[in-house]
Amino acid sequence: NPYGTQRGRKGSSDARGPCTALSSASSPEMLRGKRVIVTGASSGIGEQMAYHLARMGAHVLVTARTEAKLQKVVERCRELGAASARFVSGSMEDTAFAEEVVKEAENTWGGLDMLILNHIGHSYFNYFDGDVDHIRKLLETNFLSYVAMTVTALPMLKESEGNIVVVSSVAGKAPGPFAAPYSATKFALDGFFSSLRHEFIIENVNVSITLCILGYIDTGKLNQETLTTWKAKIEDTFVN
Ligand SMILES: NC(=O)c1ccc[n+]([C@@H]2O[C@H](COP(=O)([O-])OP(=O)(O)OC[C@H]3O[C@@H](n4cnc5c(N)ncnc54)[C@H](OP(=O)(O)O)[C@@H]3O)[C@@H](O)[C@H]2O)c1
Repeated sequence: NPYGTQRGRKGSSDARGPCTALSSASSPEMLRGKRVIVTGASSGIGEQMAYHLARMGAHVLVTARTEAKLQKVVERCRELGAASARFVSGSMEDTAFAEEVVKEAENTWGGLDMLILNHIGHSYFNYFDGDVDHIRKLLETNFLSYVAMTVTALPMLKESEGNIVVVSSVAGKAPGPFAAPYSATKFALDGFFSSLRHEFIIENVNVSITLCILGYIDTGKLNQETLTTWKAKIEDTFVN
């Protein structure tokens, strides 16, 4: 198990951030030569995880929708020392694409050691607007594609006694206002993957499942104006 704290434990969980977990692996050597998929890796946390993995000499397959950004991420991964780096572009709104990404890993590497599920579709920060279709689409992207990739990857992960890393949020543990659709998809991840972890323990499946519960992380995406609007909305509701 590449996470030092989890070695020898089946179906374990980890509340640290994904990059911290990768950086503090007891030895970077543990990830050298490992075959890893990172979703949502064209920007933000996924991109940074790909760079951590590259520095540790892993084989990296990154995916997201924007091909031009992925090309740059792959180039940077190679510069940083990845054993190999490649990308597949497409939208996780389509579960067939989610499965295709895993098949690409199988065809390229003949196996898989770690599946890092990190991507999220766009949502809004406001009162729930009643749009059921938005929730359906967000569930496809933020939840069902995670399940589809896991199902397709599981035979390879069982073979390698590998790892599934699911990037979630405080909003998937403690609901607050203005994020009902996003929060719903993150709770769904916890329900599914935490239940699956129990089943792995019962059935002696030696594949770990790590649910990363993140608080706010400044990835440079939110500009000052957006942050000020958020702060004002929260103050308006709870303070005034
Ligand atoms: N940053 C935070 O404060 C924070 C806090 C708590 C939890 N998290 C969690 O951390 C993870 C990463 O967040 P982040 O802040 O790094 O987000 P981000 O910068 O917005 O990155 C999202 C990634 O998902 C991809 N993506 C978006 N829609 C997609 C689609 N339909 N199909 C495939 N890929 C798609 C994006 O690339 P394309 O646009 O190129 O497709 C991008 O690579 C998420 O699971 C999020 O819930 C973040």
